[in-house]
Amino acid sequence: MVRCEGLVHIYKAERLEVVALQGLDLEVAPGEMVAIAGRSGSGKTTLMNILAGMERPTAGVVRVADHDLNRLGQSERERYRRETVGYVLQHAMGNVAPYLTAVENVQAATLTGPPRYRARMAAQLLDQLGLGQRLSRRPSDLAGHENQRLALAIALANRPRLLLADEPTAELDTAAAGQVLTDLTAVLREQGAAAVMVTHDPQLETYVDRVVMIRDGRTSSERRWVERQGELVNDELAIMDRAGRIQLPRAYVERLGLTGRVRLHLDDDRISILRAEGDVSD
Ligand SMILES: Nc1ncnc2c1ncn2[C@@H]1O[C@H](COP(=O)(O)OP(=O)(O)O)[C@@H](O)[C@H]1O
Ligand SMILES: [Mg+2]
Repeated sequence: MVRCEGLVHIYKAERLEVVALQGLDLEVAPGEMVAIAGRSGSGKTTLMNILAGMERPTAGVVRVADHDLNRLGQSERERYRRETVGYVLQHAMGNVAPYLTAVENVQAATLTGPPRYRARMAAQLLDQLGLGQRLSRRPSDLAGHENQRLALAIALANRPRLLLADEPTAELDTAAAGQVLTDLTAVLREQGAAAVMVTHDPQLETYVDRVVMIRDGRTSSERRWVERQGELVNDELAIMDRAGRIQLPRAYVERLGLTGRVRLHLDDDRISILRAEGDVSD
C-alpha cells in the first residue's frame, strides 16, 4: 500500500535549509495499521504531508496504492487526494467546516452517489463513529472528542484505501481516546483501509499492528507485539537501510560513551560494536 525509499525532504526558508527527512524508508501493507512515533521535529508531519500528496519530496521514492507520487500531474494529484487517501490534520478542526452540521460535513466530503444516498452513507458512518445522536449538530456544539470523531468521519467519507491521521488523540483524555480508537479501528477493519497515524499516545500503540519510530528524519526502529512461547512480548527491532546504516538507540550509545569511531567485530552470528579505545587516530 505504501512504499517510501530514501525519502528526503528539505524546507527552504529564507537562507535557511531544514532537512526534515533524510533517507526515510517505510512500507505499509494493505489493511495494515501503523503508528509513527518520534520526538517533536523528527519529521512525522512532513512524512504525512508527503503521503497525503500535499508536499513533494525533495528526493526519494514514494508510492501509495500504485501511484508514484513524484509523477502525478496536477489533476491526478487532486484526484489522489480526494479518492485514495483521507487525511486528518494535526489540528483536526482544519478538516471541519464550522457552518455545516456533522452530517452535512461528511456528506460534503463524499464524492459519489445521489444526495439521498450520500446523506444515508454519511449518517451511517457517523453512527459507526459514535455520533449517531449528533448528526444535526454544528462543530461548535460538539465536545472535543466528538469533533475528533467528525474529522475522522470526513476523512473516511470516500472509503480511502489509506487513512492518514496526525496525532488523532492528542487533545483527548485517556478514556475518550480509547473509545475513539476502538470505534476508528472497527471502521478501518470494516472498510479494509490501511492507516498511518502519528502519535505520542502509548495507548494508541496498543491498537495498531506496529509502531515505527522516526529519529532525525529516518525510521530508526520498530516495535510490535509478538507471541513468543505462548507469551505476548513487545519486540523492538532496529531498522537497517539498503546501505547498511542503522541508528543505535541513544541510551546504548550514552551508556557505552560511544562517539565518532567505533570498532565492529563480526562473530559467527552477530556483529558487536565496541568503543575504539586506545586506537591511534589517523
Ligand atoms: N513549512 C516549514 N518550513 C520550514 N521548516 C519546516 C516546515 N515544516 C516543518 N519544518 C521543520 O522540519 C522539521 C520536521 O518538522 P515536522 O515534520 O513538523 O516534525 P514533527 O511532526 O515530527 O514534529 C522540523 O525541524 C521543523 O522545524
Ligand atoms: Mg507534527
